[in-house]
Amino acid sequence: MRQALATMPKCELHLHIEGTLEPDLAFALAKRNGVALPWTSLDEMKAQYEFEDLQSFLDLYYALMRTLKTKDDFKDLMVAYLTRANADGVKHAEIFFDPQVHVCTNGLDFDMMLDGLLEGMMIGRERFGITGGLILSIVRDMDIDSANMILDLAQPRKDEILGIGLDSAEVGYPPDRFVDQFARARSFGWHCVAHAGEEGPAAYIRDALDLLHAERIDHGIHIQDDHELLERVVRDGVPLTCCPLSNLRLQVVHDMRKHPIPEFLHEGLMCTVNSDDPAYFGGYVAANYAALADIGMPMEELAALAGNSIDASFASDGRKAQLH
Ligand code: ADE
Ligand code: ZN
Repeated sequence: MRQALATMPKCELHLHIEGTLEPDLAFALAKRNGVALPWTSLDEMKAQYEFEDLQSFLDLYYALMRTLKTKDDFKDLMVAYLTRANADGVKHAEIFFDPQVHVCTNGLDFDMMLDGLLEGMMIGRERFGITGGLILSIVRDMDIDSANMILDLAQPRKDEILGIGLDSAEVGYPPDRFVDQFARARSFGWHCVAHAGEEGPAAYIRDALDLLHAERIDHGIHIQDDHELLERVVRDGVPLTCCPLSNLRLQVVHDMRKHPIPEFLHEGLMCTVNSDDPAYFGGYVAANYAALADIGMPMEELAALAGNSIDASFASDGRKAQLH
């Protein structure tokens, strides 16, 4: 079964490249790049990987992001992820990155960072045949000026970026704050997706659809609280990019057996399975499928989820046909 789950062709549609920074690599990069971390040993650092909610994870995630400094750091991170993704049967990956943090907080050069990530994706394409693109994610709890500045920097390179996303601390940062940034991204010809309904309410999912014109909802777990919205999302075929291990580790769900994916699938929602921040949550994408197998989802439903990931991707129709 594990082998079948890993070889099933699939797309990964909800993956933060910074969330693939494994603790050992972060510790090594900190040393190499002269970045001071508050922990004196790798074991002490690893003891921080117990999360009580989204914010407690984000605190560590942003702290370790400071260890990424050079173009090669970004390239190597991408190649390391795509190597693991290839082993898990990923054929196409649409990958978030958080440039506001690298540029506005950590002082890196936007083009250097983007060049590193794109070079890594090119290597992944040549080495493994993995297609895909980058989704520039707006960090919703940072200053809106920093989001605008990043869009200014991205504009000359808009054709090298697939879309815009919205991530980070959700509650208190509703979609209506980001209408202008998403409108601008649409004028670039970018696809639009948004994290909504992870810790935030179902109303944020509705607003992401109505105000930001999101084509996919990242997480969307709290759609279970609004049946009318759920029926609309089923009717319109809006995909949800679900991340079971993330939800468990961030205590969005308290027991994997209570994860709503099986019910969502039965209700007709177009769910997909993804790994979010696999270096933090205990597994890459095949492990997320395996977690669902462990709670009793049958192989045909797991295969349907993989099929959904192909249909929900922004790949061309020709590429989708190849992957099915
Ligand atoms: N950034 C990285 N992972 C995230 C998540 N699960 N939710 C919101 N923002 C994130
Ligand atoms: Zn995410």
